[in-house]
Amino acid sequence: MVLGIETSCDETAASVVARSSDGAPRILSNVVLSQVEEHQAFGGVVPEIAARAHVEAVDGVVAAALADAGLGFNALTGVAATLGPGLIGGLIVGAMTGKAIAAARDLAFVGVNHLEGHALTPRLTDGVAYPYLLLLVSGGHTQILLVRGLGDYERWGSTIDDALGEAFDKTAKLLGLPHPGGPSVERLAAGGDPSRFPLPRPMKGEARLDFSFSGLKTALRQAATAAAPLRQADVADLCAAFQAAAADSIADRIGRALRRYRDECPELAEPVLAVAGGVAANRAIRAALDVACAGHGVRLVAPPPALCTDNGAMIAYAGLERLEAGHRDGMDAPVRARWPLDETSAPILGFGRRGAKA
Ligand code: KG4
Ligand code: ZN
Repeated sequence: MVLGIETSCDETAASVVARSSDGAPRILSNVVLSQVEEHQAFGGVVPEIAARAHVEAVDGVVAAALADAGLGFNALTGVAATLGPGLIGGLIVGAMTGKAIAAARDLAFVGVNHLEGHALTPRLTDGVAYPYLLLLVSGGHTQILLVRGLGDYERWGSTIDDALGEAFDKTAKLLGLPHPGGPSVERLAAGGDPSRFPLPRPMKGEARLDFSFSGLKTALRQAATAAAPLRQADVADLCAAFQAAAADSIADRIGRALRRYRDECPELAEPVLAVAGGVAANRAIRAALDVACAGHGVRLVAPPPALCTDNGAMIAYAGLERLEAGHRDGMDAPVRARWPLDETSAPILGFGRRGAKA
């Protein structure tokens, strides 16, 4: 019975996840308090505002998670908190809260990598067995990883510039749409014509499994400038064009990754591509992945959208797996603004993480 606390960006979240007697994990509660309104006027996440909002909200969110689960602190066996990567102020708030609860109640404490929370979500929602291929697409990361086991990740590809969520957010900002950009762009794209503005398909056909979205963003800006002043229909067409280009680029990259996955792991009875992170909530991206998976005989596992975007259940679940594997962290465990999942892989050339989100 593990309490998970997530405060790495602009959601204050807490959840209780338990291992039931049949071995399956169960989400007993999942409370997410979004700070979207606090940051709305600034068109992005303001770190200092986020940290202060976490301080104000975290006690109430933890209390609500316990109340929803019908539990008191005494029923818990452990506490997990996100220690990174993310905005340092928020991370400190969640880490201190988790450590304080663990210390006061004499519970095991374990720190969780936020990206591991996303990466293991398909195991929480669908019981996916190791190893599986993972596409992690969030506001700060776009990566293809082979998830071999708990804490055992091999990065096959990554963005060399912007993350996909960041590209969605920048597109929305450029077009004057509300933050967060991904859901805004998806909503407008539904009524737009994806073929009116021809945009590039970045990295299409390249042998390496990396991504790039900054050129697409520039092409979109140029198309928007040329079409100005923009009417509602123009904005919808630009959104549809951007989303289609992003989905095509993802489909091409993933198609290649699936070929390698089938070559390298031929023994798997049920090969799985799992998708995680906020952008995994996007229906066009999911549809493109569906087609790619069908072509390679691979099952696509896409968690429900509410468990793709940041939440406490993914942290509680990653904490649960870590605690079961015997991991414990001390009260001196540090928070980390940057914390790659695969610490042994070479740094990505040209990679500069600029978004607030992880
Ligand atoms: O995983 P997440 O909640 O936060 C971290 O980055 O860790 O992902 C947030 C990102 C944002 O960039 C947001 O615009 C994007 O996910 N996103 C979407 C959608 N929902 C959230 N992007 C495209 N379509 C969506 N429906
Ligand atoms: Zn995230």
